[in-house]
Amino acid sequence: MQYDIKDINLAEQGKQRIEWAAREMPVLGLIRERFEQEKPLDGIKLVACAHITTETANLARTLQAGGAESILIASNPLSTQDDVAASLVADWNIPVFAIKGESTETYLRHVHIALDSKPDIIIDDGSDVVATMLKEYPDHAEKIIGTTEETTTGIVRLEAMEKAGVMKFPSMAVNDAQTKHFFDNRYGTGQSTLDGIIRATNVLLAGKNLVVVGYGWCGKGVAMRARGLGANVIVTEVDPIKAVEAVMDGFRVLSMNDAAKVGDFFVTVTGNRHVIDRDHFKLMKNGAIVCNSGHFDLEINLEALAEMSEPAAKRRPFVEEYSFKDGSKSVIVLGEGRLINLAAAEGHPASVMDMSFANQALSTEYLVQNRGKLENKVHLLPVEVDQEIAGLKLEALGIAIDELTPEMIEYMGSWETGT
Ligand SMILES: NC(=O)c1ccc[n+]([C@@H]2O[C@H](COP(=O)([O-])OP(=O)(O)OC[C@H]3O[C@@H](n4cnc5c(N)ncnc54)[C@H](O)[C@@H]3O)[C@@H](O)[C@H]2O)c1
Repeated sequence: MQYDIKDINLAEQGKQRIEWAAREMPVLGLIRERFEQEKPLDGIKLVACAHITTETANLARTLQAGGAESILIASNPLSTQDDVAASLVADWNIPVFAIKGESTETYLRHVHIALDSKPDIIIDDGSDVVATMLKEYPDHAEKIIGTTEETTTGIVRLEAMEKAGVMKFPSMAVNDAQTKHFFDNRYGTGQSTLDGIIRATNVLLAGKNLVVVGYGWCGKGVAMRARGLGANVIVTEVDPIKAVEAVMDGFRVLSMNDAAKVGDFFVTVTGNRHVIDRDHFKLMKNGAIVCNSGHFDLEINLEALAEMSEPAAKRRPFVEEYSFKDGSKSVIVLGEGRLINLAAAEGHPASVMDMSFANQALSTEYLVQNRGKLENKVHLLPVEVDQEIAGLKLEALGIAIDELTPEMIEYMGSWETGT
């Protein structure tokens, strides 16, 4: 078996951590038991491009239980947990091509190794593999059963492909399932982003001004949790509806130019490019700390900052100081501008990934069940599947809820009764 990982000797530690995460993933565990019996993915060749974390390992085990032959590659050069990669290879015989800190060249080489295996299904996170397939493997793209997409940025790219008329297969928008983005993007990114900032810097957040750039699902989570740690949270937005929502949630909303002058911390979660730009750095306070938790490392204009500064000085792991050439101040960048929750911490806790990856496993099964029947566009899993995942999660949490009575069902479907 071929693989490219940091050190196979890390497998024992990785296995312990994978099994620890599995305890918080009961829904995926139930799916794994069913897959074991029914083998819905028998004979399917899969490429999964994901953050190689303990939770992803449990997804890979589930796909394997279903009969799939998978290759795993990293969806970000800094997000791989090397012990997890080692355990997947040593304990589950799953080929992994991912090393924490790999260069962009290595990252792209791994994408090509994965695509050379001619997969039937691609599980993607950010749509890099799908985009490479469309550009460089057009003949094979025609034969793909379908793809699934984990994150908001990947869905934006898939919708752009659909609009441009270049989609050659159906894609399941896993991110858009309610049991994914309501929980993973909000509570997962909320907790793990703060975890990443704290692990990297060990700086107190209480009483500091923390600017959240973008008040979407991730931004809401980061803002909520930063407030819980005592930070004065400031939100910047470009969407007036989201900005009003942030105001009514009790946050201060400012333009980026005004926020730049007062922020002690900045967290970008927009999925957009250069939302912190050259002119914003000029306005920042000395020692301002800047990081990103959006998918790609282009939210902060690091090239502009590098041009304005002396070569960056490493202060701690994942902490670099950029001192301005004019001597006026320095700005601190965390995790090279890559997702800080995966670079400096461990990504989302297993309990939210349980539902995200239940959606991934069931979307993969759905693609196989509906092979050749789906249009070449972006699809949502049926809402009943979303509800089933939430129902299983509640059951695992030991929480019972009420059911509609026949009287209620009749009333909700009628129009005659009023005042
Ligand atoms: N770190 C993680 O583990 C993790 C998890 C889930 C999603 N993501 C990524 O995080 C990013 C955000 O995802 P989301 O689900 O919150 O998306 P979203 O669409 O719900 O929210 C993005 C928000 O950013 C705002 N925005 C866009 N440009 C802006 C600008 N220049 N200034 C201020 N606000 C701006 C938009 O108006 C929107 O409200 C995406 O790249 C997504 O892929 C990361």
